[in-house]
Amino acid sequence: MLNNGYDTWVRDFEAERERRAAIGDPQWERGAALDPALVRSLQRFQVGEDGDGSALIGKADRAGDPVYARAVRLFVAEEQNHARMLALLLAAGGAGTLARHWSDAVFVRLRRLLGLRVELLVLMVAEAVALRYYRAVRDGAPDPLVAEVAGRILADEERHVPFHCRRLREALAPLPAPARRAATLAWQGLLAGAGAVVAVDHGPALRHLGVGRRGFTADVLRSSGPLARAMHAAPAAAPAPVAPAGSAGV
Ligand SMILES: [Fe+2]
Ligand SMILES: [Fe+2]
Repeated sequence: MLNNGYDTWVRDFEAERERRAAIGDPQWERGAALDPALVRSLQRFQVGEDGDGSALIGKADRAGDPVYARAVRLFVAEEQNHARMLALLLAAGGAGTLARHWSDAVFVRLRRLLGLRVELLVLMVAEAVALRYYRAVRDGAPDPLVAEVAGRILADEERHVPFHCRRLREALAPLPAPARRAATLAWQGLLAGAGAVVAVDHGPALRHLGVGRRGFTADVLRSSGPLARAMHAAPAAAPAPVAPAGSAGV
């Protein structure tokens, strides 16, 4: 059995889980004043965060590193917690959740077809878009409960990105340099497209948050270069979790 040193990540995810339990949930009973455009937008992201992650967990199990597979389960639990918090936030604003959204159905179907390496590349598109989106919600939402939930989710997404980059570096390392370059260039193209689709689909909500469609797309595009470099750097340069446990919260 392989063990590529994911113990640090498992400990980080577990420490984060304990920290979450210790601080408890936001005060849902405060209620939230939600702009209708923001409701529609948060409902779509809520569907995207929701899911049992069984396809990803199955691929991680088959990858032969039980410690990595454990870290993936903890990662999936964090994403499920995002869906749970967004549902409670919507409820605090008197809104419900969606059963499904077309963009999520497309995304799920696409990911099922893929091996772990390509699945992680697609997942990294969602993570990179989420980084910009939750930052916009945290910084632009006038309601404090909305800003708090977005801040908590954003702090998790900031830890997820280096976790996936680490695994992708290892997964891409055996490829010849031109193939590695092609993979990350394709990823950047996919991210640019996804950023533009989200900017249009969530345009009214982004406007409410003070972020223009073009600005959102440009920011997503700008973030893609450093992330692509992090994916095809030498595996030896792989960093541990970005922040010490307990410092990532809001
Ligand atoms: Fe998430
Ligand atoms: Fe995430």
